[in-house]
Amino acid sequence: MSITFLHSDQGMLGSNWTSAIADELESIELTIRSVINSSVEVASDLSGRLLASGGKRIRPSLLTLSALACGECDRERMTYLAAATELVHMASLVHDDVIDETRERRGSATAGAQFGNKISVLGGDYLLSKAFHLLCVHGNPDILKSLSATAVVMVESEILQASGEGDLSLWESEYWRIIRGKTADFMASCCECGAMLADADVNQCQAMREYGLQLGLAFQITDDVLDIAGNSELTGKETGADLINGKFTLPVLMALRDADGDGSLRKTLSKGHISACEAEKITAIIIESGALETANSAAADCVEAAIKQLSIFPQSIYTDALKSLAEFVISRNG
Ligand code: IPE
Ligand code: IPE
Ligand code: MG
Ligand code: MG
Repeated sequence: MSITFLHSDQGMLGSNWTSAIADELESIELTIRSVINSSVEVASDLSGRLLASGGKRIRPSLLTLSALACGECDRERMTYLAAATELVHMASLVHDDVIDETRERRGSATAGAQFGNKISVLGGDYLLSKAFHLLCVHGNPDILKSLSATAVVMVESEILQASGEGDLSLWESEYWRIIRGKTADFMASCCECGAMLADADVNQCQAMREYGLQLGLAFQITDDVLDIAGNSELTGKETGADLINGKFTLPVLMALRDADGDGSLRKTLSKGHISACEAEKITAIIIESGALETANSAAADCVEAAIKQLSIFPQSIYTDALKSLAEFVISRNG
């Protein structure tokens, strides 16, 4: 049986972390497919469409690879917990697309575009509830504590971000807090839970957590760069949504720092609402200023910090895959 993880294979070029856990990813896929099944047809339909439309399965891969890099563990529990992380992620995507009013995700129409906001909000709740049910049945108190604390931080960060739309000073002071909270802490928790499942010692759990955190920061910075300069055919989502939505991400902040001698960019951004025409001009300024390269280099530093954490683990196909995955998050184009 073959499973398509992406709407386009191109985004995965150069990555080989999936081969180390090909069988596990297939089991995770089958598990998600079975647990999202509901007697309420529209709940199954919304979840099933999002699942079938692709995605990179980075969070379940992180949990699985972290567990296997730390030693042996209960494979069945590992599969369920990995499936739960993808369900939390799917819920966050469905809600995020309602908030961001986006129409395209994983190369298909968003849940909001297909089912409307009401069903999508509830669909996200359904996926999150399913995830926490799986965690309660197959996790343990430490795993539940880690992932539930992460869910709180994710929502707080999305609230902070939503409350700061178009607020330049908020983005200047809170950018790192926002990306850590909405993306990196979750990836950190996936890695930590994998290690905990394998009964790793405190140092190993902490190292895996730090690996996931640094990888997550790099991942979100790259996502922010791709939002400005990515190819929507490969990312499967609209390009340019962040500026229009008043999200002033690292490339914008770097252009402000390095290439706004006359203060005109700050003046435009400080108005808060950016028109499509202004967004085009700002994008050209960002590209011209070299801010994308500056942001990419910050992401590369995070990846280097992530990979350093792996040195305390015995080398294996799983630590090699974690290294490849860290390199992939900054070299990807989808
Ligand atoms: C998208 O995550 C949401 C962010 C945190 C930027 P992914 O890029 O991992 O989404 P899929 O699962 O591959 O679609
Ligand atoms: C990630 O941020 C949000 C989530 C935690 C789901 P983005 O808003 O940048 O994610 P995309 O670009 O819509 O995937
Ligand atoms: Mg979004
Ligand atoms: Mg984005």
